[in-house]
Amino acid sequence: MILLSSSIIAQLMCLPLALAQDTYRLVSRAQNNTLSNQYTLTAYASHNTTLNGLKINWGGALNLFQANVSTYCPFVGNQSSLCPNGTDTVFVGTLYPDSEVPGGQDLYVNVDGLISITVQHSHSFPPGSWPEYYGWTWTPLLKPTGQTAKQLPGCPRNNDLYNCDIPSGYFDFKAPNATRGGVMACPNEYNTNVTSVYAVTPEFNRTGCVELVGMGTHNYTGPTPPVWSY
Ligand SMILES: *[C@@H]1O[C@H](CO)[C@@H](O)[C@H](O)[C@H]1NC(C)=O
Ligand SMILES: *[C@@H]1O[C@H](CO)[C@@H](O)[C@H](O)[C@H]1NC(C)=O
Ligand SMILES: *[C@@H]1O[C@H](CO)[C@@H](O)[C@H](O)[C@H]1NC(C)=O
Ligand SMILES: *[C@@H]1O[C@H](CO)[C@@H](O)[C@H](O)[C@H]1NC(C)=O
Ligand SMILES: *[C@@H]1O[C@H](CO)[C@@H](O)[C@H](O)[C@H]1NC(C)=O
Ligand SMILES: *[C@@H]1O[C@H](CO)[C@@H](O)[C@H](O)[C@H]1NC(C)=O
Ligand SMILES: *[C@@H]1O[C@H](CO)[C@@H](O)[C@H](O)[C@H]1NC(C)=O
Ligand SMILES: *[C@@H]1O[C@H](CO)[C@@H](O)[C@H](O)[C@H]1NC(C)=O
Ligand SMILES: *[C@@H]1O[C@H](CO)[C@@H](O)[C@H](O)[C@H]1NC(C)=O
Repeated sequence: MILLSSSIIAQLMCLPLALAQDTYRLVSRAQNNTLSNQYTLTAYASHNTTLNGLKINWGGALNLFQANVSTYCPFVGNQSSLCPNGTDTVFVGTLYPDSEVPGGQDLYVNVDGLISITVQHSHSFPPGSWPEYYGWTWTPLLKPTGQTAKQLPGCPRNNDLYNCDIPSGYFDFKAPNATRGGVMACPNEYNTNVTSVYAVTPEFNRTGCVELVGMGTHNYTGPTPPVWSY
C-alpha cells in the first residue's frame, strides 16, 4: 500500500492544470486596453476549476455563480417587450457597459474594490473610485499554432453558470500609482452568500477571497444592446 501525503497528492492534482495553463501563453501586451468587439466576461483562474470559466454577470455587483444578467426595464406590462431580452452582461472598449439607456452607463471600481455600474441617467462616481478608464490592462491570450483545444480543461460544459470557451484575453486591475493590484473572487460585502469579483485597490481588505488571473473576455454575438440598463 502506498501512502502519499496530502500535499504531494495536491501537487500531483495540480500538475495537469499547470501544464494546461502553460499551453495558452501570453503573447503580447495590447497596444491599448480596448477591444473592438462586444464581449462578455468570465472568471479566468486556471489554478481553480471551480472558478475558472464562471460567467461574470451583473446583479448589483459583478457576480459569479449567476447564470443570467439582472436588468432594469423602465417599461411595464405589455410594454416590457420594448426592452431588449439579452441574458448576458456585455461590454465594449475598456469595460464600458453595453446597454440601451440614452447616455449609456459607466463601470467603476469603488475605493474598497467592489466593481459597480452607474444607474441609468447617472454618470456620477463615488469619491475615491476609479472610472473604467483607470487601472485596467487587457492581455490577449493566443493559442500556439497546432493547438486545437477550444475549451478550458476541467470546465463543466452544459452548465449555465459557465462559459467554458477559452477567453480571448483577460482584464487585470491596478489603480494608478498603486503598489498592488489584481482581481479576486470574494464574498460580497452586502450579502456574503454571493460571490463577487473585486479589484484589488490600495484600501482593499476583503477576506475569504480567491485570486483570479483576471476577468476573461469572450466575443459576444447576442441581442445588441443586450439590456435596457444594468
Ligand atoms: C486601440 O484599440 C482600438 C479598438 O480595438 C483600435 O481601433 C485602435 O486602432 C487601437 N489603437 C492602437 C494605437 O493600437
Ligand atoms: C477555488 O475556488 C473555490 C470557490 O471560491 C474555493 O472554495 C476553493 O477554496 C478554491 N480552491 C483553491 C485551491 O484555491
Ligand atoms: C437564463 O436565461 C436562459 C435564456 O433565456 C433561460 O433559459 C434560463 O432559464 C435562465 N436561467 C436562469 C437561472 O434564470
Ligand atoms: C399595451 O396595451 C394597451 C392597452 O391594452 C395598448 O393600447 C397598447 O398598444 C399595448 N402596447 C403594446 C406595446 O403592445
Ligand atoms: C429575444 O427576442 C427574440 C426576438 O423576439 C427571440 O427570437 C429570442 O428567442 C428571445 N430570447 C430570449 C432569451 O428570450
Ligand atoms: C476595511 O476597510 C473598510 C473601508 O474600506 C473599513 O471600514 C474597515 O474597518 C476595514 N476592515 C478591516 C478589518 O480592516
Ligand atoms: C501618479 O503619479 C504621478 C507622479 O507622481 C502623478 O503625476 C499622477 O497624477 C498620479 N496619477 C494619479 C491618477 O494619481
Ligand atoms: C444566506 O444563506 C443562508 C442559508 O441558506 C440564508 O439563511 C440567508 O437568509 C441568506 N442571506 C441572504 C442575505 O440572502
Ligand atoms: C473576436 O472579435 C475580434 C474582432 O472582431 C476578431 O478579430 C476575433 O477573431 C474574434 N475572435 C473569435 C474567437 O471569434
